[in-house]
Amino acid sequence: MYDFINDLRFKGIERFKNKIWLSSPTMHGDEQRWVDEAIQTNWVSTVGANINEVERMTAEKVGRKYAVALSAGTAALHLAIKLCGEKLYGQPKVGHGTLEGHKVFASDMTFDATDNPICYEGGEPVFIDTEYDTWNMDPEALEKAFEIYPDVRLIVVAHLYGTPGKIDEIRAIADFHNALIVEDAAESFCATYKGIQTGCFGDVSILSWNGNKLVTGSSGGMLLTDDQEWANKVRKWSTQSREDAPWYQHEEMGYNYRMSNIIAGIVRGQLPYAENHKEQKKAIWMRYRDGLKDLPVSMNPVDFENSEPNYWLSCCIIDEAAMCQTVRGEKDELWATEPGKSCPGEILGGLSAFNAEGRPIWKPMHMQPIYRTNPFVTIEGNGRGRTNAYISGSSVDVGADVFRRGLCLPSDNKMTPEQQDVVIDIIHRCFR
Ligand SMILES: Cc1ncc(COP(=O)(O)O)c(C=O)c1O
Repeated sequence: MYDFINDLRFKGIERFKNKIWLSSPTMHGDEQRWVDEAIQTNWVSTVGANINEVERMTAEKVGRKYAVALSAGTAALHLAIKLCGEKLYGQPKVGHGTLEGHKVFASDMTFDATDNPICYEGGEPVFIDTEYDTWNMDPEALEKAFEIYPDVRLIVVAHLYGTPGKIDEIRAIADFHNALIVEDAAESFCATYKGIQTGCFGDVSILSWNGNKLVTGSSGGMLLTDDQEWANKVRKWSTQSREDAPWYQHEEMGYNYRMSNIIAGIVRGQLPYAENHKEQKKAIWMRYRDGLKDLPVSMNPVDFENSEPNYWLSCCIIDEAAMCQTVRGEKDELWATEPGKSCPGEILGGLSAFNAEGRPIWKPMHMQPIYRTNPFVTIEGNGRGRTNAYISGSSVDVGADVFRRGLCLPSDNKMTPEQQDVVIDIIHRCFR
């Protein structure tokens, strides 16, 4: 382990007494009120006023007709994908998934929860490479994927780190090929594209209230749709698919995916602060952008022309020419300090030594051992000749390149400007 504390480059920096988190929950007090009310009224179950209110508030905020409260964003993704699978291919026999024998186009540089539910339903994800403009699914690679696999009818697409992807282009391609879209807006609650909230662009969309998200219920997620029949179906599936009968009667597969009224109480208390959290996150992103501008790094991209991110995580990517020597194995990495250069491993190590939490960029799915044999579609020579783009000898696709050179910075909205200045100082010293 590298000894950052005794490295002269870091002389004078003091370890943070309280850890600076990547992104931790920020409570305001109202959460307690709604949780207490649920307990006092004995609605300690998957039914209750908090659930109804969270569904109403979320649908209103995002601008969709129906929001269904579930136990997690992952559960919402599973049922969203199942809805689409059933619509496309019909109801499967018990014990079989709706997507068996079918390929699904999927975001590649994302959290695995985006894509795993394709497999829960028996489908095969085909990973689509990332573009540099927003770090999301590359529409050009998606077009190419339809050339290779013209029968595909479902696309699962995420907005990474709260920055909306190229929604118009992806929607146009989907419509041309008569494909459905599941939109994973887990990280992008309150982000807008051309003035419209993310969560509105999928045939069915999802949000997450996981503990690290813009607002949280400790856990929880929402499924969003404009189709009442779909909303009702998901409510039924999520409560074990009970039929309307005096006894437990089941005609289709069920799940225990409904949100609890206690969790919903936390979410209900959090939702009024969502925009406030977004403003705090934006200020953090701006402070990094200004504080790092003399270094050979760029911030995670923002397509200001079309979208307003929620700035959930501030990230940066190091210029290729300023990357020190580094090599990554499956679970570890090596790097060598070099004046004027650095790499994600060194910066994350430095931050950690002073009690601040950063994280590598989400490792692309096509690089994950579990998915390494799945198809992956990229544009040959991708990056070369494009703005911002540089492909080194060791990175042949955009996702691998961003993963290699990028990192997520401490983005907690309780971090003070003074603490952030220390974080910025540590990053500067890594390049000395
Ligand atoms: C992009 C993305 N999709 C899906 C999820 C899954 O949400 P949850 O943790 O609520 O299941 C997460 C995060 O947790 C995420 O970041």
